[in-house]
Amino acid sequence: MNTLQIYNVDENVASNAWVDHERYLTLYQQSIDNPEAFWREQGKCINWIKPYTQIRDVDFNYDNLHIRWYYDGTLNACANCIDRHLPTRAHQTAIIWEGDNPSDEAYITYQVLYEKVCQFANALKKLGVKKSDVVTIYMPMIPEAAYAMLACARIGAIHSVVFGGFSSEALANRIDNGLSRVVITADESVRGGKRTPLKENVNTAAKLLKETTLDSVIVVKRTGGDIHWEEGRDYWYDDLVNNASLDCPCEEMDAEDPLFILYTSGSTGKPKGVLHTTGGYMVYASLTYRYVFDYHEGDIYWCTADVGWITGHSYVVFGPLANGATTLMFEGTPTYPDASRCWQIVDKYKVNIFYTAPTAIRALMRFGDEPVKKTSRQSLKLLGTVGEPINPNAWEWYYNIVGKQQCPIVDTWWQTETGGILLTPLPGATNLKPGSATLPFFGIEPALVDDKGSILQDTAEGNLVFLNSWPGQMRTVYQHHERFRNTYFSNFKNMFMTGDRARRDEDGYYWITGRVDDVINVSGHRLGTAEIESALVKHEIVAEAAVVGFPHDIKGQGIYAFVILVVGKEGSKALCEELKLMARQEIGPIAVPDIIQFTPGLPKTRSGKIMRRILRKVASGEFDDLGDISTLADPTIVESLTLNRVIK
Ligand code: PRX
Repeated sequence: MNTLQIYNVDENVASNAWVDHERYLTLYQQSIDNPEAFWREQGKCINWIKPYTQIRDVDFNYDNLHIRWYYDGTLNACANCIDRHLPTRAHQTAIIWEGDNPSDEAYITYQVLYEKVCQFANALKKLGVKKSDVVTIYMPMIPEAAYAMLACARIGAIHSVVFGGFSSEALANRIDNGLSRVVITADESVRGGKRTPLKENVNTAAKLLKETTLDSVIVVKRTGGDIHWEEGRDYWYDDLVNNASLDCPCEEMDAEDPLFILYTSGSTGKPKGVLHTTGGYMVYASLTYRYVFDYHEGDIYWCTADVGWITGHSYVVFGPLANGATTLMFEGTPTYPDASRCWQIVDKYKVNIFYTAPTAIRALMRFGDEPVKKTSRQSLKLLGTVGEPINPNAWEWYYNIVGKQQCPIVDTWWQTETGGILLTPLPGATNLKPGSATLPFFGIEPALVDDKGSILQDTAEGNLVFLNSWPGQMRTVYQHHERFRNTYFSNFKNMFMTGDRARRDEDGYYWITGRVDDVINVSGHRLGTAEIESALVKHEIVAEAAVVGFPHDIKGQGIYAFVILVVGKEGSKALCEELKLMARQEIGPIAVPDIIQFTPGLPKTRSGKIMRRILRKVASGEFDDLGDISTLADPTIVESLTLNRVIK
């Protein structure tokens, strides 16, 4: 029984919401009863070159798995984000850019966006980029990152954006995996006043490549910092685009042609290249953007996500621009120069819709109410969160202090794999409960199943699955279809497995309770514990490592590493620092362990399997509830682990 307060629709009606609760229920039921008719209609929210007649061809059965949407239609994603708006909104701002330094800003109209993207697309073509080639984008949050994505889409190239916080090793793996001959980057990125040497990371990555010959690196000059230049391979962005033509025809793409790859962590060591295709993804990003954020003409919308993550793809670039919205891109961090920054930006641009991650809210809460209250925030009408469960405390603060009890909060649950939001309140239509992502979006059929795959009814807790496809669903793991089938469709028959667990309450609301696999969520960033372990064991004196998450006030989950050293070696503070550096070099700063505990052994079953459940309990300090340890090969190891637990 959930005792949290329910926020009533009446209390938080967005003044001109698209749907009310009755309408939501009716539309939802229709979308489930007759998905063909529903999606046939919704597919029209974007422009098609050749209209589709076929809606979907889907089978979730492991042996015959395939997912196709609108598959006889043709379109271009870039044309949907730019060209279609030119007749009516050429002079409207498409992108507002706010630099790390509060005095840096830019307004890019749809007309200018068109020209910049065409020039970039022509430059790519000149470098030999063709339809279906993979182009890697490793950029700061600057408008050129969006230009690059759209330019690829325009000419039918598949973009693979790699988060600018990833290391050169992580970048090299992704370039290799996509056999990407072209990388687009900047000399340096700037966040919170600190610079990161992106171009230098590309140089290092180029030396680490095993599969690919990298022939072109396009460099945007962001800071003018010193960089090493390789003649014949490196090109300044300005030199390439300045003389390029302002027009570039759009490639006509099949609905099921790939639009992008985005790597995400799973339970094995190697990140998966999640592949999204053109038609279904664009329909779904566009439609969910409009309804979930209750977007209306003239709204100023700001999503704080980096374009290196799926949120940046769907809800900084494609969703808003497909709707002809004004989307704000922010280069900096919420606490620089001070903790009032976000709200100052809201006031400066009169932001109406603000979408961020719980970790940012928790980080800002620490500074108290004053940095918020000294700003007006009068323009805000809707708040959103994504990426991890939001604890009710943070929700209340966001609702009461930031939103002044005037703005509904949409707690949106989704994944890189889902392409767009699947569980969410609709503003004005759904009563809110702090901490719950509430109800499914139209056309979405969630279910909870037990570990054998039996569907649980009514109030229940279990594995969160989806029984039916939606247009924005990923189609495959790039060049690894087997992995796609095995990861998402092998455990439970005829269902898409999310890897999350959830609870459903008496009102049918969903509450995400965590992951079922060895994936942890650090500050809204998804990391496989196996990835961090492989980074740590690269150190010559590490024999074995096991990484688990533990509750962390700001990050949601912190990283706790148990490390066994080779015989005769001892742990030290200096070694901790070396190991942290390994994780930083192999993956990036987000993967650096918060706590490292050296241990002579790990809790293993007699068959050699690490019992992570015990490690998680030790890391969280929950010693009373360790469960059955009698199956361990050496039960005494548990005492040693608990006695030597490291507290930060
Ligand atoms: O565990 C869920 C959590 O983030 C995971 C997906 O991570 P990623 O693919 O990086 O995409 C993040 C942005 C869409 C999910 O499996 N998650 C995401 N949104 C929520 C959430 N957990 C609870 N509540 C949410 N609103």
